[in-house]
Amino acid sequence: MSVQFHEAVKVGDVAQDSAVHLKIADREIALINLAGAFYAIGGICTHGAARLADGYIEGELIECPQHAGTFEIKTGKAVDYPCTVNVKSYDVRIDGDTVMIGWEPL
Ligand code: FES
Repeated sequence: MSVQFHEAVKVGDVAQDSAVHLKIADREIALINLAGAFYAIGGICTHGAARLADGYIEGELIECPQHAGTFEIKTGKAVDYPCTVNVKSYDVRIDGDTVMIGWEPL
């Protein structure tokens, strides 16, 4: 099955080295602008009910605002305790001035 892309935000809507929380087609997503490149990962921490976009970007990690667990921005991999379960990583593409986020339909 091929990835289907969904319109997310305009490129200029997310400042460099910041994140926004999005809800697209019932999915909670954290979209992160890391040094001008966009990455999308699951928006809710796998340890609790915190929004990762409300956390802190440290290098290539995003730190959960709740208990300071971290995930890799580029892959969604859980890195620091207490996070042990990865968040999903989504495909991102830029279409003109629009950020598109994609995943394979169920
Ligand atoms: S809710 Fe994210 S580290 Fe606990």
